[in-house]
Amino acid sequence: MPELPVLDHGAVLAAVTPADAIAHVREAFLRHRRGEWSMPPKVYLDSPPHGDFRAMPARGNGLAILKWISSFPGNPAARGLPAVMGVVCVSDAATSQPLALLDAAAVTALRTGAVAAVAADALAREGARTAGIVGCGLHGAWAARCLAAAGYGPGVCHDPRPEAAEALAAELGWRTGPLAEALACDVVTCVTPGAEVVVDVKDLRPGLHLNMLGADGPGKAEATVGAVRSCALFCDDWVQASHGGELTGAVEAGLVTRDDVTDLGAVLAGGAPGRPGPQAVTLFDSTGLAIQDLAIAVAVLDALRAGRVEAQRVSL
Ligand SMILES: NC(=O)c1ccc[n+]([C@@H]2O[C@H](COP(=O)([O-])OP(=O)(O)OC[C@H]3O[C@@H](n4cnc5c(N)ncnc54)[C@H](O)[C@@H]3O)[C@@H](O)[C@H]2O)c1
Repeated sequence: MPELPVLDHGAVLAAVTPADAIAHVREAFLRHRRGEWSMPPKVYLDSPPHGDFRAMPARGNGLAILKWISSFPGNPAARGLPAVMGVVCVSDAATSQPLALLDAAAVTALRTGAVAAVAADALAREGARTAGIVGCGLHGAWAARCLAAAGYGPGVCHDPRPEAAEALAAELGWRTGPLAEALACDVVTCVTPGAEVVVDVKDLRPGLHLNMLGADGPGKAEATVGAVRSCALFCDDWVQASHGGELTGAVEAGLVTRDDVTDLGAVLAGGAPGRPGPQAVTLFDSTGLAIQDLAIAVAVLDALRAGRVEAQRVSL
């Protein structure tokens, strides 16, 4: 068996620019919509009392991947370890030969940031430019980097930890500001832990586009149910969004049904209308899909084959 390339965090980030990530993630939604890429539901493996593991498979572009990733919220305080760790196994879909192992945290950061730009390009009103970031932690920062790469900005970075907002604003040449100023931007991306709401009905202005990335599991929400119900709604995947996403509260309250929500893939493929008009408020609920991880794996393998990135090599 040939040696297996292993790409650590830095190598994955060196292999794929935010612009590459955006193009590949957009393509992933299109191909999945056309039935060319497949993605079985993710599997959760509880590991009480610490958290859970998630197994996320997908196949497309000649590759088959499995992302094996944790959510151990107590890790940082209790052990000084990240809450989210794991690996992406990449195999050849035709021969089953293992092709690479990738750091899953870097793949997740790129694909999560990229979808914010893909959704904004598809759903924000024409001429939308300014970007508000609510929650400037790991994934908020990658959403901001990808939005900046897609031409959005200047932006307003808001976070109760001033050092997080300041570092991100300095990196991108944006500025920090209170929540109200972040929410006053054309495209607002929320990437908080989802423990308290940051968007209410009063914050909805005509023409606003909201990316809601933080609520990716049961019990999390970044907007009130009333605010969700007031928007034109879009999601990455209805099953995930209605059971553990931003839409869940409104679905459980009987205020939102399947017919009220459009898949982003359908909009990108031209099979469904996007923004209803310039005055509408659009809300995209991102829960995170294995096809996004596959999109980044495709980009990493391209970079590896083209010699644009170095990998460590191991024999199995
Ligand atoms: N949709 C997806 O695909 C996807 C992918 C990865 C992570 N997530 C989710 O995104 C959320 C953030 O993840 P992360 O890894 O960036 O976490 P993080 O801890 O690195 O960052 C969260 C940030 O939010 C800030 N914050 C907390 N409360 C806030 C508030 N009320 N207003 C503004 N900012 C606030 C924190 O200070 C912190 O800087 C989590 O819920 C995570 O599960 C979603």
